[in-house]
Amino acid sequence: MAEMGHRFSFIFTLTLLHFLHFCSAKLGVSTPPPLPILPLPSFSQLKWQQREVIMFLHFGPNTFTDSEWGTGRESPTVFNPTALDAAQWAATAAAANISLMILTAKHHDGFCLWPSKYTTHSVSRSPWKNGHGDVVKEFVDAAAPRGIDVGVYLSPWDRHDRRYSHELAYNEYYLAQLQELLNNYGNVREIWFDGAKGKNAPNMSYYFSDWFAMVKELQSSINIFSDAGPDIRWVGDENGFAGTPCWSTINRSSLAIGAEGITQYLNEGDPEGTHWVPPECDVSIRNGWFWHKSESPKSLKTLLEIYYNSVGRNCVLLFNVPPNSTGLIAQEDAHTLTQFKAAIHTIFSSNLAQNCSLRASSQRGGKESAFGPENVLDNDHLWTYWAPRGADAGGDHWIEIRSQQKQGLRFNVVRIQEAIGLGQRIKRHEIYLDGKRIVEESSVGYKRLHRIKSGVVCGEVVRVRITEARAVPLISSLGLHLDPFWDPTGLS
Ligand SMILES: *[C@@H]1O[C@H](CO)[C@@H](O)[C@H](O)[C@H]1NC(C)=O
Ligand SMILES: *[C@@H]1O[C@H](CO)[C@@H](O)[C@H](O)[C@H]1NC(C)=O
Ligand SMILES: *[C@@H]1O[C@H](CO)[C@@H](O)[C@H](O)[C@H]1NC(C)=O
Ligand SMILES: *[C@@H]1O[C@H](CO)[C@@H](O)[C@H](O)[C@H]1NC(C)=O
Ligand SMILES: *[C@@H]1O[C@H](CO)[C@@H](O)[C@H](O)[C@H]1NC(C)=O
Repeated sequence: MAEMGHRFSFIFTLTLLHFLHFCSAKLGVSTPPPLPILPLPSFSQLKWQQREVIMFLHFGPNTFTDSEWGTGRESPTVFNPTALDAAQWAATAAAANISLMILTAKHHDGFCLWPSKYTTHSVSRSPWKNGHGDVVKEFVDAAAPRGIDVGVYLSPWDRHDRRYSHELAYNEYYLAQLQELLNNYGNVREIWFDGAKGKNAPNMSYYFSDWFAMVKELQSSINIFSDAGPDIRWVGDENGFAGTPCWSTINRSSLAIGAEGITQYLNEGDPEGTHWVPPECDVSIRNGWFWHKSESPKSLKTLLEIYYNSVGRNCVLLFNVPPNSTGLIAQEDAHTLTQFKAAIHTIFSSNLAQNCSLRASSQRGGKESAFGPENVLDNDHLWTYWAPRGADAGGDHWIEIRSQQKQGLRFNVVRIQEAIGLGQRIKRHEIYLDGKRIVEESSVGYKRLHRIKSGVVCGEVVRVRITEARAVPLISSLGLHLDPFWDPTGLS
């Protein structure tokens, strides 16, 4: 499968490597994987990345007052869902193949969806279940039987509590609530620290280092989300679009929660970044974050556009599906979500490259090694991969998909995935169809999806060329797909 180079030194290296390979093959010893390039994801970050689409549930007094940012002066009596059923939320998520749901346990209005010991501004003073209800508990209990993991959102900005603006008192209050949420409801996989804060809010410091240390103490497998990580970063916008490039790596020291002027940096990341802090794209299925009678869900076309620009750009999509004032996810939202899941399935469940033959510029450890191009067609998208020979990021590294059928290949989407368990590497890549370049782009990461700008294309040979990388490129998966929903002429 290796294609011979012309330079003598190259042939010499090749011969030497074949010799070494021959020796190790004789001893029955396999070539080890290449060295990683730092920084690397943590175990929990890898699990999170593979979820791809997760769900946000904005729910609270705003659901009943038709607002987005409550003032904090709402009476707890406004919170009165007539038929709250968290099992319906979990069923909706399960039907959409979603494995993590995050609930706004407290939004900026300060109202707590659980009976906190440290305030009366909670469900304990609402008519719902005569003040004996606990939405967080119902949420957690409904998720478990569906195999769905949970996360919580606890707004730092609190417009109700009088302690807010008294730095020490408020930080103690906030830490106490973190302990309630992270001690009493089992495993929590993600916690959301929202950087949002009104312009006229009191200027007060949050003790983030205490908060984060407490979170990790109570939940070792949790991922902490904020503008600045430490585990997951905000993508820098609320329409669900990541940048191009989009690096999982970034310099944490140049980020601050709620800081201005860093949205582009958050959007694109940094190939030289010192920390692994991948972006999450938060976007709502409707216009607002909370349910409003006057709004309806976005179209399937819009949702797919969001998917390609988030999951298709190395991000996790955090999709907000807000329960209504009955306490249920509206039928039309659930329907849209199911349609969305079905569309993704239609596009990606079959890989048109599946039965093709593969060829690559070279192969680490030689022909018999575990690093052959065939790895890009198996179901493991992390730990089996094609690796070229050597440790050199430069050089003409490429991998080719060749049709074995008379009718050739017909597709409009190309999927490329890197073996990010060993670090994110690819800086620039190109795709050729029968020698003609059809894509010229930047980073890849866990998953990169390219819709071919000219629409459906046909041909025999697709070549992916890596033109610039931080280290020798490792490709874990390649796919050719046909998206019947995409009409390139309909794009603005
Ligand atoms: C469910 O989502 C996972 C990614 O989290 C994906 O690998 C799998 O194929 C999806 N299953 C279906 C039936 O859509
Ligand atoms: C807010 O307080 C911090 C110190 O806690 C100070 O550095 C900063 O300048 C203040 N900002 C405003 C807008 O007053
Ligand atoms: C991030 O940090 C690295 C290592 O210190 C540095 O080389 C790089 O220039 C930094 N990036 C930015 C945008 O400052
Ligand atoms: C909330 O959604 C459920 C499920 O579609 C529906 O039966 C109920 O009427 C909705 N409530 C409101 C206030 O729209
Ligand atoms: C690959 O081959 C299998 C077995 O012959 C067949 O069922 C499948 O449809 C083929 N897939 C593609 C994408 O051609």
